[in-house]
Order: sequence, then structure tokens, then C-alpha cells
Amino acid sequence: MAGRRLKLAVLLSGTGRTLDNFHREIEAGRLQAEVVAVAASSSKAKGVEKAKGYGYPVFAADERDHRELSRRINEFILPFQPDVIVLAGFLKLYSIPEGFEGRVLNIHPALVPAFCGKGFYGMKVHRAVVDSGVKVTGCTVHFVSPIYDEGPIFLQECVPVRAGDTPEDVAARVFELECRLYPKALNLLAEGRVKLTGNQVWIEER
Ligand code: GRF
Repeated sequence: MAGRRLKLAVLLSGTGRTLDNFHREIEAGRLQAEVVAVAASSSKAKGVEKAKGYGYPVFAADERDHRELSRRINEFILPFQPDVIVLAGFLKLYSIPEGFEGRVLNIHPALVPAFCGKGFYGMKVHRAVVDSGVKVTGCTVHFVSPIYDEGPIFLQECVPVRAGDTPEDVAARVFELECRLYPKALNLLAEGRVKLTGNQVWIEER
């Protein structure tokens, strides 16, 4: 995957804000990638309309069983021969297709292993962060494993949590960080600078 444009399959369940960011970054020449397919876990997801608007091939499955959902999504995306499968606000458990170990990424809007796992999504994460009184939060790009928000941590950065912050304040600060960190992770992969050894991710310094 060294030094070329990564072919991305993007999976989403919600608004598609991360897809918007990828689109923007690709157009601006800051992300060495192209979106080859988008798949959604619900036809009602706003991200589906956005994907259509951008002209990306898109598939939506209203399927409750997560294994069947993954199977149908994989059946759709694999013919596009993605290099990397990117979870972008995908809220269902995803079964990684054969041969894609180490090539499926997720971003979580907190510092894994804190404030993560089943039930920790969207504003629930930021409410829990504010309620807990922690002074920093952030986001985590990680490789996907069969357990929610687990798998080797790829990149992690912090933002402050300030006295008087609302969960909305924290969410906005974290999302701004996500918009830099996810493209950064993908560019590192595109440049062939990432090595996965067990649970550890090594990044080649240049
Ligand atoms: C992002 O905050 C990301 O951390 C999480 O999903 C959010 C994007 O989803 N994985 P959405 O577009 O707001 O539905």
C-alpha cells in the first residue's frame, strides 16, 4: 500500500460527517485516497444521500442481524477492491471479510480504552466524559477487531475538557480533531509507514 492513493470503502450508520470530511480532504489534495464505495446500515441514514450527492456507489441494507448485514455489505463493497475499509460512524458490529485483517479502521470519539464499548456512541460518550470530571478526552483511530472499540490502537490525540464545558462543546472539539486524525492515519497507511505486530502499531518516522 506504499505511496499511492488508497481505495476506501466507507461504512456508516448516521449523518456521514466523516464521509464529508474525507470528500473535502481528497478534493483538497490532503488525503491520498479515493472513495470507491459507501455502505450504510440503514437506508434512512443521512450519509446515504450525501454519498449519492458525491457520486459514490452506495448500498444501504435495513438488516437487523449484524452477521447478515456484514455479509451483504461485504458482497457489495468487495468487488470495488478496496484497500481499506473505513468505519465512519458505523454503529453495528462488523464482521471483517477474509484477508482484511489489519485493513479495517474505526474512529472512536474518546481515548480508548476509556468511554468506549457497547452503548458508548454519539453524545453518550461526551456526556459521560463531562460527568466524570476528566480533564482530557480525545479520539482514537484503531484497527477493528470482533469486539466493539477494541483492536490495536493506531493514533490517539487529546483535547482539553474545560470547567463549564457542555457535552456539545466537548463533542465539537473532539470532532475537529477527528477531521485531522482520520486522514492522517490513512495517509500513513498510503505511505506504507504502518506495521502491525500483535496489539502494537508501529509508525515509521520520516
Ligand atoms: C464520529 O464522531 C466518530 O467518532 C464516530 O461516529 C461519528 C460520526 O458519525 N465513530 P455521524 O456521521 O455523526 O453519524
